[in-house]
Amino acid sequence: MLKISDQITQKAYSKMQFDSNKWTEKTDYEIDYILKKIKLSFTDRILDVGCATGRHTARLTELGYKAYGIDYSPELIKIAKEKHSDAYFSVVDFRNEKDTDDIGKFDVILLLYDVLGSFVNAEDDRKMIKQVYSHLNSNGFAVISVMNLQYILAKGVKSFSFKNDPDKIYEIPLSDAMSKTGEVFNVKNILLDAEEKIVYRREIFKDIKNPSQIPEELLVRDRRYLKEEIESMFKEYFEIVESKYVKVGNWENSGEPDNSKEILLILRKKTNDSQG
Ligand SMILES: C[S@@+](CC[C@H](N)C(=O)[O-])C[C@H]1O[C@@H](n2cnc3c(N)ncnc32)[C@H](O)[C@@H]1O
Repeated sequence: MLKISDQITQKAYSKMQFDSNKWTEKTDYEIDYILKKIKLSFTDRILDVGCATGRHTARLTELGYKAYGIDYSPELIKIAKEKHSDAYFSVVDFRNEKDTDDIGKFDVILLLYDVLGSFVNAEDDRKMIKQVYSHLNSNGFAVISVMNLQYILAKGVKSFSFKNDPDKIYEIPLSDAMSKTGEVFNVKNILLDAEEKIVYRREIFKDIKNPSQIPEELLVRDRRYLKEEIESMFKEYFEIVESKYVKVGNWENSGEPDNSKEILLILRKKTNDSQG
């Protein structure tokens, strides 16, 4: 069962217009980059967690790899299946061990573009990381990108404490970022609970199929990370092969902490003997 706040996040994702978002344009480049960094054979299994409408899974399938896309949004998986009928997709909440009982083990697990960060509860992050570990073959790789907290701090994001001043959220201007551009870094439209590292946004969604309907407003929260923090979350059970600040379409070069929206990590599962 999803908690109320999770249901809102899931609903917002389901209404997101992935294909018109600029940050989804570099799929081929991103897959090329991953394949350059991780030598894979065509028999290796790749799991794309939080695949949304399926762009990375579809590209891997097109190249001949065994890719499996999962997402907890039934609406997004429906679109993925319609768009890419030759690729494999299914509705799975990756946090839930029971849900993932029968998906097996993988050689690479992708969590690209803020799959981690969808939850405000640190316990959910721990569950996701544990699941990545359990579903990787020994020496398997995880490729993860999360939103860089330093970027919005450097841009002067306004902070508050939800615990002490919850009504402050009514001052957030409405944004149509999720339904239009995907630009969820504009500090004018977000409020940061600095202690919790949670960002609050008020997103407005038009019903595309039914334009005469009154648009729906959703209060969306996400978690952003400092580089050292995300590294420390994985360090015990994964070797950090690469960790850097990146911009969309430029994963080759390390970006500046203050000017890069994402942090990209390539991790290798430690075997029992290599765990220190
Ligand atoms: C910002 S989108 C990124 C989509 C995709 N990886 C991409 O790069 O285009 C995050 C996705 O993660 C999915 N997601 C979040 N939590 C999840 C969970 N526990 N299990 C499966 N999918 C999840 C959301 O539904 C959403 O589609």
